[in-house]
Amino acid sequence: MIGVLVSGEGSNLQALIDAGLPIAGVASNRPGVRALERAAAAGIPARVFALEDYRDRERRDVDMADWLTLRGIDLVVLAGYMHLLTPEFLDRFPDRIVNVHPSLLPEFPGAQAIDDALEANVATTGVTVHFVDEGIDAGAVIRQEPVPIEPRETLVDRIHAVEHRILPEVVRELCAAVR
Ligand code: GRF
Repeated sequence: MIGVLVSGEGSNLQALIDAGLPIAGVASNRPGVRALERAAAAGIPARVFALEDYRDRERRDVDMADWLTLRGIDLVVLAGYMHLLTPEFLDRFPDRIVNVHPSLLPEFPGAQAIDDALEANVATTGVTVHFVDEGIDAGAVIRQEPVPIEPRETLVDRIHAVEHRILPEVVRELCAAVR
């Protein structure tokens, strides 16, 4: 079963839902976000694990990992999840955590990847799906797809369209491999 970690809009969560993937839980570090509405609309159990409710990040991550494990989750997908995960979480799902990132990593890691690519004046950026480790947008690449920068006005939409196509594909393949 899949667990999805979110922080905001949740359009990648929606793509996973629409692909009919077996999502058993959605965890958000922020309350009131659109991703939680999407989970509710799909009838998927969801919970908020806000940092402010915990003494430290490690304890939050242990609680979140416990909740996911209780729900039978063995593959974790970060879909717009904007916090770094501690080793306390990572060690619970070894080689079973993936992230989608809007650049061709290792180019443009971090939260402003699309703006950074625009500013750097590269001709091509793209999308990466990769395994997660302690680094910021580090970890072994599973799949990448290039996206041309021009026309700039539609770049964000074109990147999201690629994310919404390749993330469910990769997750489906990983589900088959986990079994
Ligand atoms: C996506 O662009 C993803 O690559 C990045 O954050 C964005 C999240 O969008 N990590 P959403 O919440 O899935 O709509």
